[in-house]
Amino acid sequence: MRIGILTSGGDCPGLNAVIRGFGKYAFENIKNVELIGIADGYGGLIRGECRKMSPADFTGILTLGGTILGTSRQPFKLMTVEDENSTTRLDLMKKNYKKMGLDCLLTLGGAGTHKTAALLSAEGCNVIGLPKTIDNDIWGTDVTFGFHTALDIATECIDRIHTTAASHGRTMLVEIMGNKAGWLTLYAGIAGGADVILLPEIPFSPDKVAKAIERRADAGKAFSIIAVAEGAMTISESKMKKKERAAARGNDTTITNALAKIIAEKAKVETRVVVPGHIQRGGSPSPYDRVLSTEFGSFAGQLAKDGKFGVTVALVGGKVTYNALADIAGKAKLVPVDCQEIAVAESIGVSFGR
Ligand code: F6P
Repeated sequence: MRIGILTSGGDCPGLNAVIRGFGKYAFENIKNVELIGIADGYGGLIRGECRKMSPADFTGILTLGGTILGTSRQPFKLMTVEDENSTTRLDLMKKNYKKMGLDCLLTLGGAGTHKTAALLSAEGCNVIGLPKTIDNDIWGTDVTFGFHTALDIATECIDRIHTTAASHGRTMLVEIMGNKAGWLTLYAGIAGGADVILLPEIPFSPDKVAKAIERRADAGKAFSIIAVAEGAMTISESKMKKKERAAARGNDTTITNALAKIIAEKAKVETRVVVPGHIQRGGSPSPYDRVLSTEFGSFAGQLAKDGKFGVTVALVGGKVTYNALADIAGKAKLVPVDCQEIAVAESIGVSFGR
C-alpha cells in the first residue's frame, strides 16, 4: 500500500506528532507499506513534488513544531479554475495522485484543506483527513489538534500582559488568532482572567466595552485586560459586507487598534494593544496535543489499513472516531452564543460587549 502524506494551510503544533503517530502505526501494522511525503501541502501535489519516507523520518519529531513536510495555502476557490491549457489544479492533483502511484492520501489541515480533500475524494481519490488548526473550527470534532497548545500560549501572553497592565494601571487589549471563530479567545480570555472578551460570534458595542472598563475603574481597579478575537467586530460592522468593513477599517485588518482609541477617549484610560500573532502557532506541541495527535495519527493508520476512505478523523465525546468528508466540508464550528463557557464568564462579571 502506497500512502501519500501532506500538510496544508497554516501550520500548527502537533502536525509532526500526527505524522509520527501515523508513520509508526503504518510501519508496525500495514504490510509492505510505502509512505510518500508530499512537499508543501496541495502545492506539492499540484507540482508532483514528493519523496519516499523511511521509518527514520518518523522518529524524533514528536515534540517538533511546524511540519517536516512544509505547507502552503492553496485557496479552494482556485482548485477548479482553468489555466491557459484548460487544466485545473484539481486535474493536476488527480494526475499526480495517479503518477505517484498512491492508494491513499492523508491530508492534515484545516477547514480549507478539508474542502479540497472532499473534492478529491468525490473525484475518486482515497482520502483520509486529519483536523488541524489552532482555530478549533472544524465541524464534527470536539477539538482539533493544535488548539490546546495555542491556548496555552495565548493564555501565557495574557498572564504576562496582566502584570504590566497592573503595574502601569493600563487597559491592555490582547488580540488573539482564530480567524472567524472565537474559541481561542474565549478560552484564553477565561483562562487569563480577561475582564472583557470580544468574539466574532458576538458583535459588540464599543460603548458597552468602555462602560465595563469605567465600572472597573469606579470599583478601584486601575487596570483592565481585553481579549479581542482577530475576527471580532462591532455591531455596526456586523451589518456591513466584508469589503465595506475592510474599507471602513482602512489600514487596519482588525478592530483592535480602533477599539483601543475609542476606549482611551470614552473611559479616559491609557490603552495598549498587544498582538502575539503567529507566536500562537509556533513551537512544540503541549502534552495534551502530543497525546491527541498520536491518537489521531494512529487512528488514521487504522483507517488506511481498513481501506476506510472519504473520511476525516474526529474526537467525539472523548472517543476518537471519524466523519464523512462530505458531511463536514464547508461547515464551520463557531462558538454557540448560548454556550456554558460564555454564560459562566458573564456570571462572574466578564463583559462580552453586548
Ligand atoms: O487558521 C490558523 C490561522 O492562524 C488563523 O488563526 C489566522 O487567521 C490565519 O491562520 C493566519 O494566516 P496566515 O498564517 O496565512 O497569516
